[in-house]
Amino acid sequence: AAKTEFDVSTVEAGQLVTIQWQGKPVFVVHRTAELLAQVDGHDDSLKDANSEAIAEVQAEWMDTAEKRKYRAIKPEYLIVVASCTHLGCIPLFKPSAGRKDWGDSVPADWPGGWHCPCHGSYYDISARVINGSPAPHNLHVMPYTYTSDTTVVIG
Ligand code: FES
Repeated sequence: AAKTEFDVSTVEAGQLVTIQWQGKPVFVVHRTAELLAQVDGHDDSLKDANSEAIAEVQAEWMDTAEKRKYRAIKPEYLIVVASCTHLGCIPLFKPSAGRKDWGDSVPADWPGGWHCPCHGSYYDISARVINGSPAPHNLHVMPYTYTSDTTVVIG
């Protein structure tokens, strides 16, 4: 199957870009220290805390609690399939700065991340699904490796 090469250093701090891999959109997020801090403090609100529900696509390197928390080989760059695990819509990136504008429907324990516009699933900044969402699983992590400090090969 076709592989996609991408230079993660092209993604500005705090930003998300969407790239294509085998015809599927993939999110690449450059997480700042502030965004990485949002990964902590809401373990009780995670529906699929250890990504166990998607063991068949679980990456082999995701073998420690720390790696399962950040869901990335390099924590500052999250790379996940851009497809809601409910029915496949593309979730909207809503990092912490945006969430105060969202009103009362936002779960109190959601620290920001993604919101799916189709049926209202919420994901945190590690793309882990929040309790109460219709989505059953975290966003999928596809196989990838680093071939240099900043070059990833997906697939
Ligand atoms: Fe995302 Fe239904 S497709 S919540």
